[in-house]
Amino acid sequence: MQRLYRKRVILGVGGGIAAYKSAELVRRLRDQGADVRVVMTKGGREFITPLTLQALSGNPVHLDLLDPAAEAAMGHIELARWADLVLIAPATADLMARLVQGVADDLLTTLVLATDAPVAVAPAMNQAMWGDAATQANAIALQKRGIRLFGPAAGSQACGDVGMGRMLEAEELAQRAADCFESRALDGVRMLITAGPTQENIDPVRYITNHSSGKMGFALAEAAAEAGAQVTLVTGPVHLPTPDRVNRIDVVSARDMLAACEASMPCDVLIASAAVADYRPEVIAPHKLKKDPTSGDGLLLQLVRNPDILATLAQRPDRPFSVGFAAETENLIEYAARKLQSKNLDLIVANDVANPNIGFNSEDNACSVIDRELHETRFPQTSKAKIARQLIDFIRERLTRHQD
Ligand code: C5P
Repeated sequence: MQRLYRKRVILGVGGGIAAYKSAELVRRLRDQGADVRVVMTKGGREFITPLTLQALSGNPVHLDLLDPAAEAAMGHIELARWADLVLIAPATADLMARLVQGVADDLLTTLVLATDAPVAVAPAMNQAMWGDAATQANAIALQKRGIRLFGPAAGSQACGDVGMGRMLEAEELAQRAADCFESRALDGVRMLITAGPTQENIDPVRYITNHSSGKMGFALAEAAAEAGAQVTLVTGPVHLPTPDRVNRIDVVSARDMLAACEASMPCDVLIASAAVADYRPEVIAPHKLKKDPTSGDGLLLQLVRNPDILATLAQRPDRPFSVGFAAETENLIEYAARKLQSKNLDLIVANDVANPNIGFNSEDNACSVIDRELHETRFPQTSKAKIARQLIDFIRERLTRHQD
């Protein structure tokens, strides 16, 4: 089995003698099915040539942050987004220290800051350098930030010393890279995600809508697809690119959204992150409404309730594991818990849209997830992409329990 099938791995090569093992590592990653792009530091290039790694990876090697030709081909932000995993092997003591500091003076360190993908480092250095208090503190700091440490191993070293600091062997690193995905595996799980606002037409030129940007739903779709789920994303009008490996269906109104969701059933998991308009105009005027001189300054618009997409799907006999969102400005947990019960959900994600740093249209989010036992799990503020990954992980874990 290819444990890294279709996974995109950036292999960062730092300036240490263990860089000779990076060539073998590229081979092992590709044997596991990964698409590998190599990024080399200046130091890395002193130990192994880009040409070797280009030939082995089958992709151009990325060297400089400020190279216009390379940027035109695949910009550094694009490369950071492309990655499903950033693996730095070898990671020197200097490189680890620079990562701790958040330095971004070359392509590799910049990518680490810019990526939302998991990052792993395989330290490789002399045993005294590894044992030094500064390096040890740096290793702990990186782990605290969620960066994984692969190794190092003990043994004889290129400098003649014996001790901790050897880079793990290529085969083991490739297996560890594959393990990064295993814990999030949603292979074969059919996931339906609603996202964005809906637009409810008043007449041919006007409509009712809301501030939802769709960012959270798109981030969830991306994270779920990355974890192997078969994702259908039903979205209202938004200005967002379709995440890779996601089947996107564009809709306008709540009724369109319901119809598209019903047509996409059955599914195993439903995540309703769309901000669906609760009401729509009872009639859509066939022509642009004119100002009526007889009605003074006012205009009465008769609204009717829209169907509740989530509640409708969560009541079907083939009901999926159902996750709702509750965007509230007050009494967050209490209102969310009520919604969980009234809509017959398994989980509800509560977010405080009164906080200007999170929620609608912002880049970040923070939320609490409430389950049927009304137990609350908090997810502190971070980028929507990171929260999405954490939520997908959490949903996967609950889904497994639910199925057992
Ligand atoms: O009742 P409220 O709109 O606050 O509920 C929010 C949750 O219900 C969200 O998950 C939203 O996507 C879903 N919803 C829906 N259809 C509606 C209204 C809300 O799917 N008409």
